Amino acid sequence: MLDVTGISKTFNPGQETEVRALVDATLTVPTGSWTIVIGGNGSGKSSLLNAVAGSFMVDSGSIAIDGTDVTRLPQWRRATLVGRVFQDPFAGTSPALTVAENLALAARRGLFRGLGPLLRSRDRVGFRDRVASLGLGLENRMDQVIGSLSGGQRQSLTLLMATLRTPALLLLDEHTAALDPKSAELVIAATRRLIDANRLTALMVTHSMQQAADLGDRLVVMHRGGVERVYEGAAKSRLRPDQLTELFAELRMQDRIDTATAGMLAEAYIEAR
Ligand SMILES: Nc1ncnc2c1ncn2[C@@H]1O[C@H](COP(=O)(O)OP(=O)(O)OP(=O)(O)O)[C@@H](O)[C@H]1O
Ligand SMILES: [Mg+2]
Repeated sequence: MLDVTGISKTFNPGQETEVRALVDATLTVPTGSWTIVIGGNGSGKSSLLNAVAGSFMVDSGSIAIDGTDVTRLPQWRRATLVGRVFQDPFAGTSPALTVAENLALAARRGLFRGLGPLLRSRDRVGFRDRVASLGLGLENRMDQVIGSLSGGQRQSLTLLMATLRTPALLLLDEHTAALDPKSAELVIAATRRLIDANRLTALMVTHSMQQAADLGDRLVVMHRGGVERVYEGAAKSRLRPDQLTELFAELRMQDRIDTATAGMLAEAYIEAR
């Protein structure tokens, strides 16, 4: 279970470039839940995931994973709890190493590496089964370098690597956004399989309203650095993509009205002086 309570983060405070990326954001991801996060550009989705992973320290609020307060822990100390996959299919794997070698590295993440061979033959069998479970036929290409695979195949393997040691929490940040529709479908199928088979607790950001409606059991809508809405249970399963698109339009309208009002207030202030 992930518990995020009232976290805030302002980048470049006091400068012209000041951004309030997270503003009193609160959310929980119950154990075993697959929670989807949506929201406009700059609404704080990636910042939320970065805060949870420890890419930066929050200014206030708290973050707990399975009851452990991780708010002040550096990123590397959270790495054993958190698995992550980013948008870029080239980010999560070492292109010059083979599929099997990449998996061996992932299996030892956060452990003392020691000396000795990277790949022991007894590991290979387990890896092959795991790769076969992706349903992409990559189990026959274990000794090919990852750089020779397609973006979708690579991203599926990155996902497998991120979940190899069953993290307490899986963070997916638009992990299919850089892929063509067919590859995105493959990666989504692999995501479903891995989350179901390992009963993972997952937080997934997407811009696809279709994915947001079809996947997961909870949906969080972010707006201006905070959690604007949460749908769960029947309310989540009933959601259709067009309802989400409408909600987005409403939020954008709200932004435009607020920007216009702020502009008018500023003008009135200048005139009054
Ligand atoms: N390291 C940083 N330094 C300065 N500003 C940042 C940093 N990270 C994020 N921001 C700013 O914080 C705001 C929220 O960004 P964030 O990346 O969380 O949005 P997002 O919801 O993920 O958007 P997108 O849909 O475009 O990915 C943006 O204005 C962004 O420019
Ligand atoms: Mg983002």
